Amino acid sequence: MNAVDQLEIRRPDDWHVHLRDGEMLKSVVAYTARQFARAIIMPNLSPPATTAAAASAYRDRIWAALPEGSDFTPLMTCYLTDSTDPDDVAQGFEDGVFAAAKLYPANATTNSAHGVTDVARLMPVLERMQTIGMPLLVHGEVTDSDIDIFDREAVFIDRILSGLVQDMPDLKIVFEHITTSQAVEFVDGCGANVAATITPHHLHFNRNAIFAGGIRPHAYCLPVAKREQHRLALRKAAISGSPKYFLGTDTAPHEVHAKESACGCAGIFNAPFALESYAMVFDEENALDRLEGFASEHGPNFYGLPLNEDRVVLRRQTVIVPDDLEAAGSRIVPFHAGEDIGWQLQF
Ligand code: NCD
Ligand code: ZN
Repeated sequence: MNAVDQLEIRRPDDWHVHLRDGEMLKSVVAYTARQFARAIIMPNLSPPATTAAAASAYRDRIWAALPEGSDFTPLMTCYLTDSTDPDDVAQGFEDGVFAAAKLYPANATTNSAHGVTDVARLMPVLERMQTIGMPLLVHGEVTDSDIDIFDREAVFIDRILSGLVQDMPDLKIVFEHITTSQAVEFVDGCGANVAATITPHHLHFNRNAIFAGGIRPHAYCLPVAKREQHRLALRKAAISGSPKYFLGTDTAPHEVHAKESACGCAGIFNAPFALESYAMVFDEENALDRLEGFASEHGPNFYGLPLNEDRVVLRRQTVIVPDDLEAAGSRIVPFHAGEDIGWQLQF
């Protein structure tokens, strides 16, 4: 048994975050900023942040929404479309506005209607990114309605991603929020230029959670959770110590009425207890000694950014996650609502 009651690690970063905008941004940004030094900010606003100018203005709004004295660094991403200009992307990267660019297949998820309809059209942008060492972040699901929703990630690997990796052998690619054993096998089989993020929720539950005793909108996200065998493959990858896997929560706040609806939104708000949620998993796997690599080292090493120098402490103790939290004049139900999470990040 692992008897560790307190764990000190290098301060972590979150490599996949939705902060939204306006009042919601003001309500949620502090949850991420208190746990993480840096975060990759997703550009799927409405309208999406498709240019360096839009991302720079969004970064200003994030800075303005941060609590007084916060040293949190938002790392901005470019929302790729069929008409993205390679020069704008490259200039944004060189100017330090963009840390990466995000590929949403059109209509794959929330606010992705302007996404890419055919990756072939993106080749000039991807070639430029490969040359300048700019990472491509991929929402890896096909959108064809004839493909079963639980197969969309595996089919994306076969139809799109494997060809892309072959055509662009030096392009840095992050396969985002992976959910299948096929994704783990694929990433393991690629070179060091291909990595993946794993969310806490995909480590905690399988697809049964969405239908446990009735329909559970707060367990619904995209990519949707898969069978138990896939969850176990993700756990093995996360605790493996491989530098290819790192922390990316995909925290995605939606107001409670947008989730609890006849057509509920996809997304799980896990920012408030994100690090504790991962610690639970690593603890259950007797792998707490691997948490630091996954949470604080593999991500910056992949992105070519310095490691954080300061440290944080997690203490084993009873912590009950609130049933809901006030946000933007409404409420959001957080991941693990009402549960004892067993760890507390010390401040
Ligand atoms: C995200 C959101 O709400 O923006 N939802 C989700 O289920 N993860 C979009 C995304 O990352 O797919
Ligand atoms: Zn996301």
